[in-house]
Amino acid sequence: MRSHLLNDLTAEHYRRSVTEGVERVAAKLATTDRPFTGVTVDALAPRIDAIDLDRPLSDTGLALDELEDVYLRDAVYFHHPRYLAHLNCPVVIPAVLGEAVLSAVNSSLDTWDQSAGGTLIERRLIDWTAERIGLGTAADGVFTSGGTQSNLQALLLAREEAKGDSLAKLRIFASEVSHFSVQKSAKLLGLGEESVVSVPVDHDKRLQTVALARELERCRRDGLVPMAVVATAGTTDFGSIDPLPEIAELCAQYGTWLHVDAAYGCGLLASLKYRDRLAGIERADSVTVDYHKSFFQPVSSSAVLVRDASTLRHATYHAEYLNPHRMVRERIPNQVDKSLQTTRRFDALKLWMTLRVMGADGIGELFDEVCDLAEEGWQCLAADPRFDVVVRPSLSTLVFRYIPAAVTDPAEIDRANLHARKALFASGDAVVAGTKVGGRHYLKFTLLNPETQASDIAAVLDLIAGHAEQYLGESLDRAC
Ligand SMILES: Cc1ncc(COP(=O)(O)O)c(C=O)c1O
Repeated sequence: MRSHLLNDLTAEHYRRSVTEGVERVAAKLATTDRPFTGVTVDALAPRIDAIDLDRPLSDTGLALDELEDVYLRDAVYFHHPRYLAHLNCPVVIPAVLGEAVLSAVNSSLDTWDQSAGGTLIERRLIDWTAERIGLGTAADGVFTSGGTQSNLQALLLAREEAKGDSLAKLRIFASEVSHFSVQKSAKLLGLGEESVVSVPVDHDKRLQTVALARELERCRRDGLVPMAVVATAGTTDFGSIDPLPEIAELCAQYGTWLHVDAAYGCGLLASLKYRDRLAGIERADSVTVDYHKSFFQPVSSSAVLVRDASTLRHATYHAEYLNPHRMVRERIPNQVDKSLQTTRRFDALKLWMTLRVMGADGIGELFDEVCDLAEEGWQCLAADPRFDVVVRPSLSTLVFRYIPAAVTDPAEIDRANLHARKALFASGDAVVAGTKVGGRHYLKFTLLNPETQASDIAAVLDLIAGHAEQYLGESLDRAC
């Protein structure tokens, strides 16, 4: 069994095993002609359940054959141009290389004595990101597991900064289309669901600042404490960017912590064409960035940044066995002092390799391409009488609904759209997402693949129309 331990004696075994795995994945990627096979839970679950985990195959090749059967064949492939669903990006090769390196060396970024250069690389990337945002020289931050954790940590810091007031009085303001991790965080932070005040959005799905001003004033008048405003730079559903300068102004006026959730919109930090859409982000007290959404990085890769490094002390605890107080005096950089996690992956290496091979402009160029594609898709949808499209994209998302010429019942149109999404998924020809707008079912393309062409969008729209019409035809037959 020792031959499976990765060490000086097994370097050759490691090379052969990993190469064999890489060969299989490369072959798979090269021949995948659909984003999904359409496999059902009922078809796949018995194959996985049938495997006896107490009887190993004792051979890498056999295990990879089995993996083909239970995972690779039927995986959902984000690199395919017709995967248009959630906020998942195709990944860049330098980052995948970084992933392979980081898991083999297996540094843990909690302390300097478990990571050495890894800690310094992460710190450089935090500084690099903070500089791109414009947070100033006192900024700092830390890599996290994702936007949910970044938002949680930011709101923890905001809560602690508002300390002195009873938890029951604290209020968080976020738009009605902000990410649900805001509510989840409030719950985890002991604030209760009523602590999150939902602020309406305008026609473009951007937080209405007049409504925010009204809510902040009401909060003050009621003797409550405006703990934080969460502005979203790239909403999950619409890619809309809240009016950051106006929101920053209100936060300054009310002495409120401004958190910008740029989990999706952070790609604009590298953009060559659209960086100005993030104007105002530099006034944030904290920012969430998900490199695994718009920097083409593999999951996980995210960070939370803060304007004032000292606020990170709210996440600091010391243990004699890990990061004793004296290490602070000795200026030993232990990232665990800033993190909610203890043992932590060296995810930063993926971004490092990306920047060292491709450069930030390379990433920005790819993100600009998907933003341009979304604009093209919007033009196409807006001109197509078969569809109702919701907002002109600020990033790379399109939300729309098939409107059959002969049907006026909104509930029946809902069912046709729901059916179209399901049927498309079952066919595996394309994967699209769905959401509700004004209580009605809509479909969504999240465009993060520069390989997707306008012709793919047009073809998938035709498929959707076809499935919806088929449903309506059958539904008419049923009624007769
Ligand atoms: C705006 C926004 N914030 C936060 C998140 C949560 O990020 P994660 O899934 O990385 O936890 C998402 C995820 O889609 C998001 O769209």
